[in-house]
Amino acid sequence: MTLNYASLKNHDTPIKVLFTGYLCTVGVGYFFAILQILFTHGMADGQFGLSINDIVYSYYGNRSGTVMENQLNGAMKANASAQERFAIIEWVRNGADEDKYTDDGIEKIIQERCATCHNKDASGLPNFNDFDILKSYTTEDSGATFASLTRVSHIHLFGISFIFMFVGLIFSFAETTTMQYKCLAIGMPYFFLIADIMSWWLTKIHPMFAWLVIFAGMGMGISFMFMWVTSILEMWLFKPVFVDGIGAHYIEWRDDPENTPIKKLMIVVQKIKCVITPISSYVHAQWLEKVWPKIKNLFKK
Ligand code: HEC
Repeated sequence: MTLNYASLKNHDTPIKVLFTGYLCTVGVGYFFAILQILFTHGMADGQFGLSINDIVYSYYGNRSGTVMENQLNGAMKANASAQERFAIIEWVRNGADEDKYTDDGIEKIIQERCATCHNKDASGLPNFNDFDILKSYTTEDSGATFASLTRVSHIHLFGISFIFMFVGLIFSFAETTTMQYKCLAIGMPYFFLIADIMSWWLTKIHPMFAWLVIFAGMGMGISFMFMWVTSILEMWLFKPVFVDGIGAHYIEWRDDPENTPIKKLMIVVQKIKCVITPISSYVHAQWLEKVWPKIKNLFKK
C-alpha cells in the first residue's frame, strides 16, 4: 500500500523507540487487566477460568443466593476454611440475626478471616466491622449495582478510548495492511468498546446478554493484538518478515487478482484454525499444570 506519509519502517529510531515503549507498556497493562478479570469475575462461580456463568453472576447476580454466600463460594473462597464458610452461610440463611452473630462465633470468624481486608481503612471494600454494612450483604445477590456500573463504565470509556487512540495512531503508519483492513482494525476497538459497556448494562437487565460481553471483549482483544503485532514487526523486523520471510508470501498473495475476498477469508480461517488449535491446547495444559498453581501459591502467601 502506498502512503502519503512516512511508513513505520522509515520512521527515525527515537520515534520507533517511543512507539515501542508505549506499545510494550500497554501490552503489559492488557496482561494485568486479563489477570484482574480472572481473579474477580473469573472466580465468581468458584472455579478458575472465565465462563458465561461468571459473567451472569457478576452483572445479573446469582439470584438463588445471597451476596455473602455467593462470594464465600466464589472469589472469597480461599479466605476461610470450609467449616468457617459453612458457619457464616448457615448464619446468613437463618436470617443473619445480630444476637446470634456474637453467640454463634460468627463475629470471631469475620474478625479473624475477613476484617484484615474488610475494614474502614480499605477504600472500595465494605467495612465488616460495621454490622449494618455486613448485614446488607446478606440479602439477595442481584449482581453489580447501577452505581458501580456507572462508575466502571465511565472509567472504561474514557481510559480505553485513549489507549486505542495511540495504538491506532501508531498502526495507521503501517503499510502491509490494505486500506480496508486498516480502517476496520482501527475502528473495531471503538465499536467493541461501546458494545462491551452496553452489554454489561444489558446483562444486568437480562442474563442472555452475557455472551455479548465475551464477544465484545474478544473483538477488542483481537484488534489490539493485530495492530500491536503488525506495528512492532514493521518497525523492527520489516526485512526478515515482509521482504524475505513469510510476510513476503502474504503480500504476493494479497495482491494476487486470482484470490477473491471470499477465497481469501476461507484460507485465512483455515490457517488460523491450524495454528491456534494445537497452540491453545498446549498453552491451556501448561497453564493448568504449571503456571496456575504457582500464581495461586504466590497470592496465598
Ligand atoms: C485478602 C483480602 C481479603 C480478605 C481476607 C477477604 N476479602 Fe472479601 N474482598 C476482597 C476484595 C479485594 C474484594 C473486591 C473483589 C472484587 O472487586 O470483585 C472483596 C469482595 C468481597 C465481597 C463483595 C463486596 C461487594 O461490594 O460486592 C464480599 C461479600 C466479601 N468480599 C466477603 C468476604 C468475607 C466474608 C471474607 C472472610 C471470609 C472476606 N471477604 C475476606 C478482599 C478480601
